[in-house]
Amino acid sequence: MSEKTILHGLPPPLSNLEIKYTKIFINNEWHNSISGKKFPVYNPATGEKVCEVEEGDKEDVNKAVKAAREAFQIGSPWRRLDASERGRMLNKLADLVERDRLILSTMESIDGGKPYTASYFGDIPGAIKSLRYCAGWADKVQGRTIPMDGDYFTFTRHEPVGVCGQIIPWNFPLVMFAWKIAPALCCGNTVVIKPAEQTPLTALYMGSLIKEAGIPPGVVNIVPGYGPTAGAAISYHMDIDKVAFTGSTEVGKLIKEAAGKSNLKRVTLELGGKSPNIIFADADLDLAVEHAHNGLFFHQGQCCIAGSRIFVEEPIYDEFVRKSVERAKKRVLGDPFAPCVNQGPQIDKEQYDKCLELIESGKKEGAKLQCGGSAWGEKGFYISPTVFSDVKDDMRIAKEEIFGPVQQILKFKTIDEVIKRANNTKYGLAAGVFTKDMDKAILMSTALQAGTVWINCYSAMSPQSPFGGFKMSGNGREMGEYGLHEYTEVKTVIMKISQKNS
Ligand code: NAI
Ligand code: MG
Repeated sequence: MSEKTILHGLPPPLSNLEIKYTKIFINNEWHNSISGKKFPVYNPATGEKVCEVEEGDKEDVNKAVKAAREAFQIGSPWRRLDASERGRMLNKLADLVERDRLILSTMESIDGGKPYTASYFGDIPGAIKSLRYCAGWADKVQGRTIPMDGDYFTFTRHEPVGVCGQIIPWNFPLVMFAWKIAPALCCGNTVVIKPAEQTPLTALYMGSLIKEAGIPPGVVNIVPGYGPTAGAAISYHMDIDKVAFTGSTEVGKLIKEAAGKSNLKRVTLELGGKSPNIIFADADLDLAVEHAHNGLFFHQGQCCIAGSRIFVEEPIYDEFVRKSVERAKKRVLGDPFAPCVNQGPQIDKEQYDKCLELIESGKKEGAKLQCGGSAWGEKGFYISPTVFSDVKDDMRIAKEEIFGPVQQILKFKTIDEVIKRANNTKYGLAAGVFTKDMDKAILMSTALQAGTVWINCYSAMSPQSPFGGFKMSGNGREMGEYGLHEYTEVKTVIMKISQKNS
């Protein structure tokens, strides 16, 4: 460990980070965009341009899909690999990410404005664990033999789906990259992946590691570019077999529509949320305040799972609000590389404006602004930690995904009431419940319409647990064994035999 270690186990970030990979990655080689266009990448903490990246569009996506299709042909090096070898390659990739953790953490923070402590201790290890988790599955994905009626020998194969288009957002660029490619590769698919235009850098760096890990050409192709161009080219492509998308519900609808209008490719979606976090009067109050705080403010509130509707039972409401405000005021904003800073900027002007506009709507619609409520600092897209109390269900801040550091606290009286109100949303991604009464906890876990229900915790995630949404928060699950099902087709093989015996 370096002598300059600042926090416990935290090495200083690289001061001279070089951005080496800014091109389109196809067939394990770097390509310029066919149009000749590039797009700028900014550091949201300073507003300064970091570099320019080749801008992929339809023609580049076509080229990437051709490479992915070629790599997927029967008899190709990738199709001929032992499944255990696919696992070994994913583990090798994880080793390389581990080796380059400092580069990747520094890059993630420059690109996305994420506090460096979060990149180093959260994002990069999260990506490594996801790669290793899927590496372990590679040679354990298996079908069954089936006792079919008649003289037949029948078995199922869990085959790869084929060429997978993957479109990812900017909030967890490297983790989302790993969540997408790792299950796809472990099941034997090939991939064309588009990182978000705001944060393409760590994904492109991964291209170099994918090559170094010995993953054959064409298996992973990375096309940076914008949504309506490169993204739409993926979702409408006639030779892509499946698309996996993480982002807004609005674009999720477009992805499904594109699948319907093209080749009915399989679609999995991980979309937005307006997740309820329900605090009963018998809960450990300090624990609930802390989890409700982190469950909302983590990563500047830019999390799909953000617990952004906090329902608090009447007897403890005022105390909960008071403690939450006290906690929010302790957040330290500033340079994402300063070790004490735990809140960086919002990702870009669009998101920053969206948050500020929603904060204004909260004030106008009569919610009580307890702290924050405005922009912060001289440069960069910072917003001060904001807490609203006396929030009513029909206010925009209680209905719309804010994706910013804005906490809504609502009051409830009965369990029946809170179940109805918590479920009264088009979303269904996650929910939290704080109570010491296990009977109540189980009832709530059954009643809440959400892909994940946390009890006496919030935001706890790991690659072993499947993740995804009910209702308009998405379709399908990612990670865990369930997540692998989305990357396989079940083929039933029925062979006539002369005599079957039990
Ligand atoms: P977005 O949904 O527009 O972007 C996510 C990804 O989709 C990016 O890679 C983007 O280039 C791509 N994309 C955009 N339009 C597309 C299209 N027509 N076809 C194919 N791909 C397309 O999200 P955006 O604009 O960055 O953020 C808007 C809101 O979405 C946020 O305020 C937040 O509420 C939500 N969001 C949710 C995320 C999640 O983790 N579920 C992540 C990012 C945003
Ligand atoms: Mg958008």
